[in-house]
Amino acid sequence: MRTAATRAFSTSTANRTKVAVLGAAGGIGQPLSLLLKQSPLITHLSLYDIVNTPGVAADLSHINTSSKASKHIGIYVTGHLPKDGGLEEALKDAGVVVIPAGVPRKPGMTRDDLFNTNAGIVRDLATACAKTCPEAKILIIANPVNSTVPIVSEVFKQHNVYDPKRIFGVTTLDVVRASRFVSEVAGGRPEEIKITVVGGHSGATIVPLFSQTQGIKSLSKEQLDELTHRVQYGGDEVVKAKDGLGSATLSMAFAGARFTESVLRAAAGEKGVVEPTFVRSSLFEKEGVEYFSSNVELSPEGVGKIHPLGNLTPYEEELVSVAVSQLKGNITKGVQFVSESQ
Ligand code: NAI
Repeated sequence: MRTAATRAFSTSTANRTKVAVLGAAGGIGQPLSLLLKQSPLITHLSLYDIVNTPGVAADLSHINTSSKASKHIGIYVTGHLPKDGGLEEALKDAGVVVIPAGVPRKPGMTRDDLFNTNAGIVRDLATACAKTCPEAKILIIANPVNSTVPIVSEVFKQHNVYDPKRIFGVTTLDVVRASRFVSEVAGGRPEEIKITVVGGHSGATIVPLFSQTQGIKSLSKEQLDELTHRVQYGGDEVVKAKDGLGSATLSMAFAGARFTESVLRAAAGEKGVVEPTFVRSSLFEKEGVEYFSSNVELSPEGVGKIHPLGNLTPYEEELVSVAVSQLKGNITKGVQFVSESQ
């Protein structure tokens, strides 16, 4: 029977956006899903994990938010488990897939130490995306991002559905941290300070370009060293404070929701939406680095214009060259993992 609610839903199908979160029951997945449930741009939030998603979905479905496209019924939330084709059901018709699935760091671990566990998880989830929603935009949070983005890209190539415009490594947390940390030293409202962070998402591959930020007082060499180190290794502060119980989850959920919302705003036609993100990029292709994070103007297709790095100080040039040399190995490791697992 067609009710007013189903009529409202079907008349809005042209605008509808289904967002799938893979790893939705985890430390990042749950608060990320909570924030996405408040997005006016999402009509269907589809939650997949190997555990607990029916519970998370039931809980979120009681929140009385609506989306622009389906005001009468609110955002539709569904929970899916692996049994009975749950992953395929979660991904069917998704316009955006966010992937925070995988294990987080424990004290003393680098992001690269997660490779052995997370590479296989990401490869398998990417395979399902390539088969079920090949045109979705894929937003990868699972670490090590410097390797998981090449993994997803290689899987999509194998299935002949690769479009570099649609595959993103989520590096937003580095930018969120940079503006917060610099505000503590140089003053200003952190949410208004824009810091460009380029490179990758792991230790020395994370390069904040403080010289490009207008409106903050100039930093001494000592402050610059301290701030740069804090942005590169800020994640370790959280890992240490959580003392074996995981890494950043709440700040990552905030950053992941911001990035997802930016992708959705650009998909809805908004111009001038710029976010840094780790994507297929020609900026350092000559140096053999195929993926790089820099400011990217998002478009309805995904990646719009990749901004060049702009003017760098000699200090920043040195940081970029270290990042480039480390990224090469991280990227090759991801590419080889997929070719060797064929
Ligand atoms: P968590 O362990 O709390 O949650 C991970 C979730 O993934 C769990 O619910 C687990 O059941 C699920 N999962 C495991 N295998 C799965 C599979 N095959 N399919 C679907 N779901 C699966 O971990 P947390 O803290 O949420 O971190 C998740 C990932 O995000 C980690 O790799 C972490 O390093 C990364 N991360 C990335 C950041 C970034 O800036 N890009 C920042 C912080 C963390």
